[in-house]
This record gives sequence, structure tokens and C-alpha cells, in this order.
Amino acid sequence: MDVFEAMQRRKSVRSYRGDLADPDDLQKILHFGMQAPIAMGRYEDMHITVVSDLAVLEAFEKHQSDLQGREAHPFFGAPQVIVVSIKPSEPEPLNMEYANGGFVLENMSLAATALGLGSCVIYGVFRRAESKPELFDLLDLPEGYQVLGGLALGKTDERFELRDEAHRMGTTFLD
Ligand SMILES: Cc1cc2nc3c(=O)[nH]c(=O)nc-3n(C[C@H](O)[C@H](O)[C@H](O)COP(=O)(O)O)c2cc1C
Repeated sequence: MDVFEAMQRRKSVRSYRGDLADPDDLQKILHFGMQAPIAMGRYEDMHITVVSDLAVLEAFEKHQSDLQGREAHPFFGAPQVIVVSIKPSEPEPLNMEYANGGFVLENMSLAATALGLGSCVIYGVFRRAESKPELFDLLDLPEGYQVLGGLALGKTDERFELRDEAHRMGTTFLD
């Protein structure tokens, strides 16, 4: 599958069989995530955590459920979540630091699609976890890093049809 086809087939998958990506496929996905462009080439300011420990995912899920007052499944039953963290150079991350994580996540989701695996970019649950910061201790991040978002990953029964629709974004041509 070439990159054009992967972009057309990629979609947010929100139903998973429950079994993990094969280890070789996971390695490929991580490899392509690390091929992403990173501002000023500061790859050392990025950190990736592969969470396959369901107890960790459940702790984040439980917090969101408590906040919402109803059972929530923000990872949609994915058996694995690849969490992308950044080491901001200032207390508030800079725009390029937010962007860095997005590029890593997009590369990984395209790679997952090409391998026939389901994936979904997940930010909401991590933002909600900011009201219970000790949750982030479960991720055992190196000093100074903070979570940007994650990619739910796993085998799925969903099909990856070619999607032709162009999402409409306002576009201006200045000629
Ligand atoms: C920065 C970002 C954060 C997102 N966070 C979530 C999330 O927390 N939960 C979720 O279900 N989808 C999340 N998504 C997925 C979007 O809802 C999805 O990409 C969009 O609706 C387009 O659908 P598609 O991915 O199937 O093309 C996120 C996407 C991005 C880019």
C-alpha cells in the first residue's frame, strides 16, 4: 500500500477485537513514528510509551468515568495504546512541540492502516487526567516529559475502504 492509499484508507477505529498487534507490526509502527519530522531535529525531546498493561488503561478510563458520572471507554477496548510525550522547553509547550507529537501519531496511524491494524488518535482522556496528575505516574515517564496524546492500536474486524471524500477546510489561494 503506498502512502496515498494509506491516507485514503486511514480512519479512526473505535472497535477492537482485543488482541494485540503482532510484535513485528508494532516495531514497524514505532519505526515509522520515529521517522516523523521533529522541529530542529530534537528527537531526544520526544518519548514513546507502549502501554499494553490493561490496568494502566483502566485507571485512565475509570477517572474519565468518574468525571462523567457514567461508564466511559475512551480507548474503545483497544488492547494497546502508544502514548506520545514531549519535553517542553518552556512551562507551556510551544506550537512546534504540539505539532511534533501530531506528526509522530499520524505516521504511526498511517503505518497501522497499511498493516491492516485499527488505530485511533486519543487526546481527550489524557486532557481529563490533568485533574488527577498522579495518573501520569503510572506511565513512568522520564523526568520533564508530559503526555501529548496517544494512539489506540489493535486488531479489528472493521474494513478499511478507500475514502474519497475530502473533508472541507476553508481554503484561500493568494495568487
Ligand atoms: C488531535 C486529535 C485528537 C483526537 N482525540 C480523539 C479522542 O480523544 N477520542 C476519539 O475518539 N477520537 C479522537 N480523535 C479522532 C478524530 O475524532 C477523528 O480523526 C476525526 O473525527 C476524523 O475521523 P477519521 O479519523 O475517521 O478520518 C482525535 C484526532 C486528533 C487529530
